[in-house]
Amino acid sequence: MLPTLFRSFTLFAELDDRELASIASVAKSRHYAKDDVIFHADEVGDVFCLISDGHVKVTMISPEGKEIILSMMGPGDFFGEMALLDDEPRSATVIATEPLDVMTIWRSDFLQILSDNFSITRKVLAELSKRLRAASNRIESLATMDVYGRLARFLLDLARDHGTTLENGYVAVTRPTHQSIANTIGTSRETVSRLIHGLIKQNLLMTEGKTLYLRKSAIDQFKAEG
Ligand code: CMP
Repeated sequence: MLPTLFRSFTLFAELDDRELASIASVAKSRHYAKDDVIFHADEVGDVFCLISDGHVKVTMISPEGKEIILSMMGPGDFFGEMALLDDEPRSATVIATEPLDVMTIWRSDFLQILSDNFSITRKVLAELSKRLRAASNRIESLATMDVYGRLARFLLDLARDHGTTLENGYVAVTRPTHQSIANTIGTSRETVSRLIHGLIKQNLLMTEGKTLYLRKSAIDQFKAEG
């Protein structure tokens, strides 16, 4: 069962059955309920986590208690690698946003796996590079864009990374809450609600149940606006 699950992780796609079985033998599965904290920022970290089911948010809490969302992650994504690689405390707090199943690997086993398999090391480095690029883009948008521009960029990134293009030209994404958008782009929930209602009025967005539909013209407009 475990090697089959491990085969579904892109991180391990290049491995043969023997290598997969060896990783599966050192991994343990853990379940968390919605809102459980998996790691607190600044605590000592000993495990690497791979999401098999569910989603997490990676957050920092400001001194005033305000939550800043750095990233959302889902099945196949990993977290908890930083403290193991640089021997520093956890860099952020990771919280389950729905019931969560993760595979955990202890520090020494994780480091051994990286040392034995360059394909995995390279994927971990590629993911870290991707996260650094995303953080740079974030710094740029916070420093140079107004809140409308930051919302437009947030929606564009969401559509690019998680969108499904429908035959009618709309791009469908799972609808994030206004509060989580606000905590990601650095504004209030009220401002996000006002801007989203404006986009709905202009027919650039539609929401239905848990889905948000972005019109192709909205995507073109957001891109043109930079
Ligand atoms: P670690 O520092 O061990 O524990 C918190 C984890 O959150 C960290 O490893 C990364 O896996 C993840 N993380 C921290 N900062 C970011 C970020 N800016 N973007 C995405 N993930 C992050």
